[in-house]
Formats: sequence, C-alpha cells, structure tokens
Amino acid sequence: MRFSHKHLLGIEPLAPHEISMILDLAERYVDLNRGRAKHGDALAGLTQINMFFENSTRTQASFELAGMRLGADVMNMSMQASSIKKGETLIDTALTLNAMHPDLLVVRHPHSGAVDLLAQKVNCAVLNAGDGRHEHPTQALLDALTIRRAKGRLHRLSVAICGDIAHSRVARSNILLLGKMENRVKLIGPPTLMPAGIAEFGVEVYQDMAEGLQDVDVVMMLRLQKERMDGGFIPSEREYYHRFGLDAQKLAHAKPDAIVMHPGPMNRGVEIDGTIADDINRSVIQEQVEMGVAVRMAAMDILARNLRATPQEVLA
Ligand code: NCD
Repeated sequence: MRFSHKHLLGIEPLAPHEISMILDLAERYVDLNRGRAKHGDALAGLTQINMFFENSTRTQASFELAGMRLGADVMNMSMQASSIKKGETLIDTALTLNAMHPDLLVVRHPHSGAVDLLAQKVNCAVLNAGDGRHEHPTQALLDALTIRRAKGRLHRLSVAICGDIAHSRVARSNILLLGKMENRVKLIGPPTLMPAGIAEFGVEVYQDMAEGLQDVDVVMMLRLQKERMDGGFIPSEREYYHRFGLDAQKLAHAKPDAIVMHPGPMNRGVEIDGTIADDINRSVIQEQVEMGVAVRMAAMDILARNLRATPQEVLA
C-alpha cells in the first residue's frame, strides 16, 4: 500500500486506504508519546519550517512538537515580523525559503487555495495547516483518530457537525473524510451559516439541534468564526446559544454514549456549555489535542518516506 502524494494539502485527494495508513501509524506514535522517552528518528536530518500567516495555538505547537519528537530541525517563521509585512508576495517568501532547502513546509494561511499555490512553487513537501475556509486536513485526521479510538471503528457512524459550517475548514475536511469512510454526516446550524450547495456533499442538513442530534454517535461542535464574518450572521450570541449551543438538554437527544468534540479554541457559553466541554465522560476534547501530535508525526513521517523514495516508487 502506497501513499501516492508528495504533499498533504487536503482530504479531498486521499483514498480511504491512505487515510487509514496515516491513522494506523499515528496509533504507534500515541504509544511513543505516552512513554517517558519520546524520541523517534523518522525525520532525522530533515528541516521543517512552520509558516503561520494566521494565529494558531494548538496546531502550531503540535506540528512543532511532532517535528522535534521525530528528530527534525524545526524552525518557526514569525510571519507577523517577516517581509510579508513589507509587501513581499507569498510566492516570493516561498521562493526565499525554498532556497534554504527545507524538507517539510507547514503552512497556515487566511486565503483558501494559498497553500496549494505555494506547493507548486517549492521543491519540498508541503502540509496544509489550514487555508481560509478550504481545508484543514490534519484536524480531520486527528478527529478521525479520536473517533476511531472512542468508537472502535470509523465507518457506519452517525456524526453531527454543528454550528458555523460556512466559515469552517474543519467542517469541510471532516465532511470529506467521514464521507469517504462511509459514515452518515448530519450538519446542524442556522441557514445563514450553512454554505450554499452543501447537500451535494452527500450530507443531511438540519436547522434544529433536537432533530439533528437524534441518535448520533458523535457530536462535533464548531467555533463561531467571528473573524470571518463581516455582517449579521446571527441575531446575538445569547440567541445563538439558546438555539445551537450544546447543553445537557440538547445532548440528551444523541445516543447515551455519544462523544462530544470541539477543535478549539472554544467560546464557552456561545457554542458549548463549559460543563459539557469539561465532562470527562462525554467530552474527548483533550484527547483530540493529544491525537493531534501523533497524527502530525505520522503525516510528516509518511511524506518524508516519499521524499526519500524515487519518483517511480512514489507513484507505483
Ligand atoms: C481550527 C482552525 O484554525 O481552523 N482550530 C484549530 O486548528 N484547532 C478551528 C477554529 O479556529 O475554530
């Protein structure tokens, strides 16, 4: 079985066996990360550069840790302070970095498609750490690993994704991944936060939490992405919480053993009740963070193997 991609730009081009390949390897890294000595050498001698053009806490930290634990030389470019502020284009920045011979480039950018564009201009492997509203593949993979570990499988599950679907690259990558693995995906949110034409993705759309959450195995909440909103998408946060915020009453419609997820950062009291987020019997939010490091180790390991292989081997 081969992973036939040079980059990890999105879930869209991945085959189901490639998704499973990353998750299976990530399982091994979960064990490594839980041990006292957390070092592997899969990236020894390689240079990883993290370029975050948009704020990030957990994604950047976990890519950094993942690279260090596998022996890479890891550098964080501070994009706030870089030449971008002086008017250099994304492509010029990429070419400058490329001349320093990195092996892995981890990029987050506010514009959809910017990471794909950059990948065409450099020689190294590029990992998309979130581009605009487009994709956030490692988030969907870490969510998948969390679900698979909690539920014992990653197929024939009923998964509700709730809230600000329209602005969410997390939702988009998860819809693609869960669909490829043959799960039932239900989207719940106000019509103003539901992208046009979303039903073509083979999902069900609901505007009512009680109805949409009926008998689901997984409840995935999303952050209200206020920074991507330029108008009145919701009447007020209080009204939004009342209708779409996850509280015990709404959660009671899901299966009794349903798990609660959130990619973070959370707006407590807006999309989720704080006590549910902290309920260790229901919430797997901390586990998601843990899986994030392991999945990023696995993804970079697999891409690094392809870097070392000949082009014929990669495509075979
Ligand atoms: C998400 C993101 O940046 O897309 N967060 C994350 O990566 N953990 C979701 C969000 O910002 O709401």
